[in-house]
Amino acid sequence: MKKQIKVGVIGCGYWGPLLVRNFRALPQCQLKAVCDADIGRVKHVCALYPDLEGVTAPRRLIAEGDLDAVIIATPVKSHYSLAKASLLAGKHTFIEKPMTTSSEECEELIDIAERNGLVLMVDHTFLYSAPVRKIVEIVQAGDLGEIRYINSRRLNLGLFQKDVNVAWDLAPHDISIILHILGEFPVAINCLGNAHVTPQVEDVTNMSLLFPHNRFAMIQSSWLEPRKIRDMTIVGSRRMIVYDDLQTHEKIRIYDVRVERPPHYDTFAEFQYSYHYGDSYIPHLQQEEPLNLACRHFIDCIETNSAPITSGRDGLDLIRILEGASASLKINGAPFVFASGNGSAPLVGLSRNGSPHAIRPAKRRKVASRAMNGVANLFEKA
Ligand SMILES: NC(=O)c1ccc[n+]([C@@H]2O[C@H](COP(=O)([O-])OP(=O)(O)OC[C@H]3O[C@@H](n4cnc5c(N)ncnc54)[C@H](O)[C@@H]3O)[C@@H](O)[C@H]2O)c1
Repeated sequence: MKKQIKVGVIGCGYWGPLLVRNFRALPQCQLKAVCDADIGRVKHVCALYPDLEGVTAPRRLIAEGDLDAVIIATPVKSHYSLAKASLLAGKHTFIEKPMTTSSEECEELIDIAERNGLVLMVDHTFLYSAPVRKIVEIVQAGDLGEIRYINSRRLNLGLFQKDVNVAWDLAPHDISIILHILGEFPVAINCLGNAHVTPQVEDVTNMSLLFPHNRFAMIQSSWLEPRKIRDMTIVGSRRMIVYDDLQTHEKIRIYDVRVERPPHYDTFAEFQYSYHYGDSYIPHLQQEEPLNLACRHFIDCIETNSAPITSGRDGLDLIRILEGASASLKINGAPFVFASGNGSAPLVGLSRNGSPHAIRPAKRRKVASRAMNGVANLFEKA
């Protein structure tokens, strides 16, 4: 029998206990200890699982815990320091989304993990869910044709966070799904938003991501909606998918609909759009808890010494996009163009012919007022 991987979980608030339950249920793994700065949370989890050791100091769990792997489920501002301590202590490390508060921090963690041959995984949970895996399978098989755009909405009342805005809290789910479906990094982003309840903390944001080959995605995030909405539409040139995560059984519906333009016409009378209305169908999805698959995947990667589907590099891509969204928010939605290559991009605008140029501080206000035109240009020129 293989040696069990010894695991400890830091953070026993809302999400941590779900990780505790899932890691504890895996036969290849032995969950040994939990940690939370709040002794009440430690007592709560240890009362549920009396075999666990409970501590309040992360240092004790990381340095003295005789563990192979550490799971971090604390608020984002503490991810970097806890993950760095864990990796430097030689532990494989699993970090909740979003990975850290900056791309520099992500790069440092990736570097430590790579230099020490450790698995670094970020919990982009939705990529392990049956509907998203099915969507990716359908897209990769070419059933939708060319993807034209993706529209995603994640709205509800609360839960208000104090340390991050709604884009950093909710949009990581949509961004991770969109990057996985499209398989590439965006060229530019623009993001508009407003802080209605807590000053400086946007509770409603609307971002657009522009991808190569004229593809784009829109993500609407809100803590200020009366209804809970979790839906995504993927529009292809041949078919379209509507994914409603709140449905119990029929989460994905594929529509055989499209609209085509005649390639040639001589007179206006000959010009007709051709609309195709075909059937729609609902694929069967295997019901499995995504978090369970994510936890299993982490342990498998440790055992096989392989890179996770949602590695530190995927975590970094997501943080770069969130940084781009924050930069765009500060200039009222003007576009932020990503530099190709590593590291976060400087703030740049697009000239009339679509070529990027650096935005000088004095120019930023003016650029911001042209934000919507800028975005229209982006779509025309990409
Ligand atoms: N993957 C998902 O779908 C998903 C869902 C919810 C939350 N999350 C992520 O999980 C993380 C935790 O979110 P949450 O909703 O459970 O937050 P929470 O506030 O409910 O819980 C966080 C816990 O961490 C503890 N804590 C904070 N700093 C600590 C430190 N330095 N050392 C030890 N304990 C510390 C707090 O006392 C608290 O009990 C966040 O990164 C969040 O984005 C992910």
